[in-house]
Amino acid sequence: MFKINENYQKLPGSYLFSTIAKKVSAFTQANPDKDIIRLGIGDVTQPLAPAVIEAMHKAVDEMGKAETFHGYAPDLGYEFLRNAIAEHDYKARGCDISADEIFVSDGAKSDSANIQEIFGPDNRIAVCDPVYPVYVDSNVMSGRTGVYDAKTETWSDVIYMPCTMDNGFVPEFPKETPDMIYLCLPNNPTGTTITKAQLQEWVDYANQSGAVIIYDGAYEAYISEDDVAHSIYECQGAETCAIELKSFSKNAGFTGVRLGYTVVPKELKCKDVSLHGMWARRHGTKFNGAPYIVQRAGEAVYSPEGREQLKKQVAYYMKNASIIKAGLKDAGYTVFGGVNAPYIWLKTPGNMTSWEFFDDLLERANVVGTPGSGFGPSGEGYFRLTAFGSYENTLAAIERVKNL
Ligand SMILES: Cc1ncc(COP(=O)(O)O)c(C=O)c1O
Repeated sequence: MFKINENYQKLPGSYLFSTIAKKVSAFTQANPDKDIIRLGIGDVTQPLAPAVIEAMHKAVDEMGKAETFHGYAPDLGYEFLRNAIAEHDYKARGCDISADEIFVSDGAKSDSANIQEIFGPDNRIAVCDPVYPVYVDSNVMSGRTGVYDAKTETWSDVIYMPCTMDNGFVPEFPKETPDMIYLCLPNNPTGTTITKAQLQEWVDYANQSGAVIIYDGAYEAYISEDDVAHSIYECQGAETCAIELKSFSKNAGFTGVRLGYTVVPKELKCKDVSLHGMWARRHGTKFNGAPYIVQRAGEAVYSPEGREQLKKQVAYYMKNASIIKAGLKDAGYTVFGGVNAPYIWLKTPGNMTSWEFFDDLLERANVVGTPGSGFGPSGEGYFRLTAFGSYENTLAAIERVKNL
């Protein structure tokens, strides 16, 4: 008789966003006349930039002719895209990352879930709490997290680093020494981040303790403050302790197009084993490359026109963020984030739980957000609103909240 991976049985409840979808669907069925505004899931709403569309059209035409047709892409990504990434995301920022340290993928979700498989089963992981749930869940699936305690909603073998208003949402070095440290900065869901000097302390800590940092920079394009690093490789010594994950979803609206990349520096080693070689092997065995058309679209993100157009798109969402933040503040809420990330993190009023506030907001304002507790136990008592809606919907939603 075959056996299943029992670790999957340990995963508690259903995925956060499917629970939200079920609740919203039940509400819509009961109230078909109500106009619901969704500021919950972190999905973009603006169309792809013209430069991206043009590049995709051109690539589609190439695919229609034998002379310019492209089959399987190179496992690790086309040179044209890896060079553009190395040039604009790293060289331009003074980071010593070369094109062959960049692994092109279909997005940061898969990379952030897959990266753990090149590490041994007995590594202790540390995560910020709250955080993007994929880091913990993917480690649960591979049996690295121990026993789940439903009461505290924590795993026995995971080191949680609470990030709350009490510590200004800055993770503190844990008491126990972790082997793998997940940092998501700017953070989903809190929308907050740390300074480059604070990040440098984490790099030093990892190098001294022999830990690896998995650095998820999916929201890098939204950084507006000068003292915040756009890449962990801006910190000295990061090449020997950090892997960086990046996505084209939030900076360029590729949530439905699918493109991302992971940087594994050649200097990153466990004793004398190169993680670069291991990730290359993993990629080569399990991934057949992101589509040519999509990689050409990704290249256009770095063209002068693409960069100009996407700067405007990011500004559009960040205007929404400031509308949400200012509106909630006016209405008496305690709010965080929204300066270096398209997320607003609010303290639920009157000691409501995150899910109580979710229901209340849905019932009375017909606005959908995301309960903070879905991102980890320290998210309880908080709530996330995204700036990824349209300007009009954002304005309307905030008016409704103000009028509650
Ligand atoms: C922190 C973080 N990493 C990764 C992702 C997923 O990115 P992608 O669309 O590239 O898979 C998200 C999506 O919401 C995210 O919030």
